Amino acid sequence: MHTILGIETSCDETAAAIVRGSISPLKSEILSNVVHSQIDEHAPYGGVVPEIAARAHVEKLDTIIARAMADAKVDWKDIDAIAATSGPGLIGGLIVGVMTAKTLARVKNKPYYAINHLEGHALTARLTDGLAYPHLLLLVSGGHTQILLVRGLGEYERWATTIDDALGEAFDKTAKLLGLPYPGGPAVEKAAKSGNSKRFDLPVPLKGADRPDFSFSGLKTALRRQATALGTLSEQDICDLCACFQSAVLQSLEDRIARSLARYKREMADHDPTLVVAGGVAANLAIRDMLQHLCVRHGFSFLAPPMGLCSDNGAMIAWAGLEHLAAGHPQGQLVSPRPRWPLDDRADPIIGSGKKGAKA
Ligand code: KG4
Ligand code: ZN
Repeated sequence: MHTILGIETSCDETAAAIVRGSISPLKSEILSNVVHSQIDEHAPYGGVVPEIAARAHVEKLDTIIARAMADAKVDWKDIDAIAATSGPGLIGGLIVGVMTAKTLARVKNKPYYAINHLEGHALTARLTDGLAYPHLLLLVSGGHTQILLVRGLGEYERWATTIDDALGEAFDKTAKLLGLPYPGGPAVEKAAKSGNSKRFDLPVPLKGADRPDFSFSGLKTALRRQATALGTLSEQDICDLCACFQSAVLQSLEDRIARSLARYKREMADHDPTLVVAGGVAANLAIRDMLQHLCVRHGFSFLAPPMGLCSDNGAMIAWAGLEHLAAGHPQGQLVSPRPRWPLDDRADPIIGSGKKGAKA
């Protein structure tokens, strides 16, 4: 058994956690998981402000780590390694987390692992549900919309990605356009519940296209056109627009994801098929519900980790560190933070996607 301290500062959550576990047998326990969200600090600006984020990480990280250690009732002598998110993300926040982790590792004489934030998301279902390799991952957050084949530790293949906006970004921009608060996802989901999803005709992005990728910017533009045509928006107009937006998103996701499920069935026929969802957008109950039904129809098991572990947290980073430690992988003292760091280096870059590039 190993006990790992995980640190996450790549975007607007300052997080630290202690995870204890082993790889064979696959066992894990989250001893503590402390997340400080900076939403209140960024809300007045309608989005994450990198400089505010970096300063808030500096101010909070020490306390958050101390709390994670106290909650877990562990001392430095109990810690076997320290892991921190080294990318992708906002460079200021990454530097804060990485420098803190490297310094602690030197002073306390512990191994340090530089973790790819996306790998943290990719391996979460192993931490929460002891899921075996391989599996398919749908990562939907403010900065990413990807389907990844998770073959094993360090073996990731990107099967699909967005060709423009990330899904969370599309929710946030829609909310902003309609005057709803930041972060937009929960606000749009809530408004959609009271709306008529048939009132406006919105396009279902890439429906029927051969490529398995995603696109959301055309939908956002179509929604803006409808909203502008209405002029002043009533509360019901806003709910109806949200319902139509979410309905188009659901139909597009369903059509797009089905392609990767079919590919998995063809190419990975020897393995039990499982789809895992991760990222902040996985909090959306309508999306979870659609995924559950889609998986049943395609003979897949469906796994959605608890919400606190879908959005950014230190436990997933600690777990990824544990897997690297157990595999005997090299340490990360010489690795610098990388604002852009794709999980699958062989996949072609997609023009226009990841413009924010910072969030995962
Ligand atoms: O993974 P996450 O916590 O942070 C990063 O992107 O790094 O994801 C945040 C994103 C935001 O765009 C937010 O609007 C979206 O997840 N989100 C949702 C919901 N809750 C959060 N989108 C749709 N429906 C929700 N209920
Ligand atoms: Zn993330």
